Amino acid sequence: MSDLIPQLNDYSEAALDQAFTGLLDEVRRGAATLASPEAVENFRLEWLGRKQGRLKLVSDAWLKTAPVEAKKALGMRFNQLKQEIGAALEGGAAAGSDKKAASLDISLPGIAPRVGVEHPLVKTMQQVVGVFKAMGYSVGTGPEVETDFYNFESLNFPPDHPARDTQDTLVIADQEGKPLRERLLMRTHTSPVQIRTMEKQPPPLRIVIPGKVHRNDAADATHSPVFHQVEGLCVDTNITFSDLKGTLDHAMKALFGSDVKTRFFPSFFPFTEPSADVQISCPFCGQKGCRKCKYSGWIELLGCGMVDPAVFGFVNYDAKKLSGFAFGMGVERIAMMLYGVGDIGQFYSGDMRFLEQFA
Ligand code: PHE
Repeated sequence: MSDLIPQLNDYSEAALDQAFTGLLDEVRRGAATLASPEAVENFRLEWLGRKQGRLKLVSDAWLKTAPVEAKKALGMRFNQLKQEIGAALEGGAAAGSDKKAASLDISLPGIAPRVGVEHPLVKTMQQVVGVFKAMGYSVGTGPEVETDFYNFESLNFPPDHPARDTQDTLVIADQEGKPLRERLLMRTHTSPVQIRTMEKQPPPLRIVIPGKVHRNDAADATHSPVFHQVEGLCVDTNITFSDLKGTLDHAMKALFGSDVKTRFFPSFFPFTEPSADVQISCPFCGQKGCRKCKYSGWIELLGCGMVDPAVFGFVNYDAKKLSGFAFGMGVERIAMMLYGVGDIGQFYSGDMRFLEQFA
């Protein structure tokens, strides 16, 4: 028998009282000394420790071997002891924190936590997305590591088509063993999410897709191998080029001010027909000509077009009944214009003096 618990000679009420009174006294005496968190923890281990705790020893030595008639009387006293230990621990924990409170000098000046701010690119992305949300667009995202199928094939880039070269694709290593369409690459634009969305959702559809894209471009003042785009896609019956023009004209006015004008130039993307590049009148000089617009009065900002019927063919959309438009814009370019940033590298420098200006 352990000397941590008294000897129990028989199971008479008197013997039980004597044994438990001794233990209860010890708990109460211990409770009076619980002034620090360490003392509380030691006390807890002494009484409630899973292997050598005294409560466990009492249970093993007395309760388990007791004759059935004595179990009730024993159990009641055992529970009382357990409650007493619990109360002592609660009191001790409270006393411990009182001590902490007493050592807290509330007259000391506080330590102000540094509050983070949204990164200017995230902020710009949310701003663009917000303009389209207000027009009833939903928001979606897709993976940055894509298959050739989603990044190119389903967007109507045939294999070996020269348009693939314009995207300067960064490919994942060791994919040569797979069929072309399954090979993995870093997405070069957010357009693959057009396909992923149409595969999942029946028409009509209005969605904007913000995200990070990758191209094997050398970094300079206006290029970065990792940058961001916001993609847009609208599909319904009777969507026309006028809808595209009106939507983008409104979006540019919402972003850069109601004075800006837009103009559309013929362009080429394999997944839109017709395709266009959109320019906005220079918001900096009111078209008088300045360095930002290279003295032309206009700044090129995004690519767009009517969804090519061939693309609908890849996702089981009925090209005879449906039409739609899509657009894609570079977030860095817009952020540089909105905030007058001259070097794209500033966005990725992690320089707090730069980033804090956007608080
Ligand atoms: N994905 C094109 C690019 O990155 C932009 C674009 C999107 C053009 C949607 C037309 C329609 O260059």
